Amino acid sequence: MNITVVGVGHVGLVSAAAFARWGHDVVGYDDDAAKVATMQGGAPWFYEPGLQELLSEVTEAGRLRFTSDSDDALRDAEIVFVCVGTPPLPGGGPNLSYVEAVGRTVVAQASRELVLVEKSTVPANTGRRLEQVIARETERLGLEHAIHVASNPEFLKEGAAVEDTLHPDRVVYGTSSDFARDALRAVYAPLVEQDGCPVVETDVASAELIKHASNAFLATRISFINAVAQICDRVGADVQTVAEGMGHDVRIGHRFLQAGLGYGGSCFPKDVDAFAHLASQVGYEFGLLDEVRDINAGQRAAVIRKLEHELWHLNGKTIALLGAAFKPGTDDLRESPALHLADDLIALGAEVRIYDPVALPNVEVQRPDLPRAETIDAALAGAHAAVVCTDWDDIKKIEPQRFLEGLAYPIVIDGRNVYDPEAFIGAGLRYHSMGRTSVA
Ligand SMILES: NC(=O)c1ccc[n+]([C@@H]2O[C@H](COP(=O)([O-])OP(=O)(O)OC[C@H]3O[C@@H](n4cnc5c(N)ncnc54)[C@H](O)[C@@H]3O)[C@@H](O)[C@H]2O)c1
Repeated sequence: MNITVVGVGHVGLVSAAAFARWGHDVVGYDDDAAKVATMQGGAPWFYEPGLQELLSEVTEAGRLRFTSDSDDALRDAEIVFVCVGTPPLPGGGPNLSYVEAVGRTVVAQASRELVLVEKSTVPANTGRRLEQVIARETERLGLEHAIHVASNPEFLKEGAAVEDTLHPDRVVYGTSSDFARDALRAVYAPLVEQDGCPVVETDVASAELIKHASNAFLATRISFINAVAQICDRVGADVQTVAEGMGHDVRIGHRFLQAGLGYGGSCFPKDVDAFAHLASQVGYEFGLLDEVRDINAGQRAAVIRKLEHELWHLNGKTIALLGAAFKPGTDDLRESPALHLADDLIALGAEVRIYDPVALPNVEVQRPDLPRAETIDAALAGAHAAVVCTDWDDIKKIEPQRFLEGLAYPIVIDGRNVYDPEAFIGAGLRYHSMGRTSVA
């Protein structure tokens, strides 16, 4: 099929490359000409493992190209995937104006009947709004061809996006016409034939809701185990053992039960907010999600309490933050717990020094005010304490001796539970983790 992907970012670029791998002819359109120029030069504009290789393969095969010209992008499109951002608004709902703008552009540029697919994460009923915009614009411009709205939410994880997209757990799409359903079947047919991947075909609102309900549920699991970790800290239990014991129950499972500094990133915080906002708009107060958010923010407060327990006042103290990205495998800093913690520490008068093996160039651009350390040792040198914020491999491999030699005081707050408490305490460190054995 002739596919156009609008918004060639973390979701759009990986999706476009996967569509091309499955044999479709794909155009990636983005209104950011600098990003398009980078991709036309053969490189992704962000870090994602395996993406460079996939991109080279499909561009060399002539199946994927990029443009910042909307007419060029949409002229031959049979199906258009909207992958633009839906960032949070101050009131909690997502900003859907980019999605709406794409709807208008597609009506203006389309030359035939086509399917407009929401892949961006949007609240249930966005599809109906888009249909309204399309109907008005179509009438205003006196156009003949129909534009069918569909929802095909994306479930990839940054850091494993290529693998997740090429081999997803499931494909979900919601349609309201046979034309749209058949087009989406054709897009995913190669994947379903190769992988036997389960497909959920539904209506548009249900597909939209599946995405928000999934992310809100995953965030709830993380906050649940973090609340359990708070209890573990107070009764001297070990949250990792508790999670393991829980996870053997097949109704529970092991994944997303890692206690730590809490979730971040461009999706969970925004999607939990957006889901609670939608619920409230339609007359249901989803108080559980308020708790999920509060528990998540409370994990940072717990780290500050542990630091204050060790250092008394944080004013004038230097804290080494190990990791800046919201999780390993990405250089994405959106809603990173590390940066929120940095702000909390600075507000208390502390100085921070931040290290990350991949995301420092983005820290330099997005948070030039934050002092950066190019190496782990430079971050530790003379700092009063270190906090593990992101569980990158090189951070996980730090030996106790390296902390003892680098830090001014031997204090480590392991915000991701990556070290062996016995080894660290035995080596003479004041070691705290999240819901596991600590010195205090
Ligand atoms: N990042 C993830 O892990 C992930 C996973 C699943 C779903 N999502 C959802 O996918 C959507 C996109 O997220 P992302 O992380 O890829 O965002 P992103 O910021 O990485 O990419 C969005 C791209 O859209 C472009 N863009 C914005 N407005 C445009 C317009 N009018 N025309 C053309 N291009 C435009 C931007 O320049 C950017 O390149 C969001 O709704 C997000 O919630 C993200």
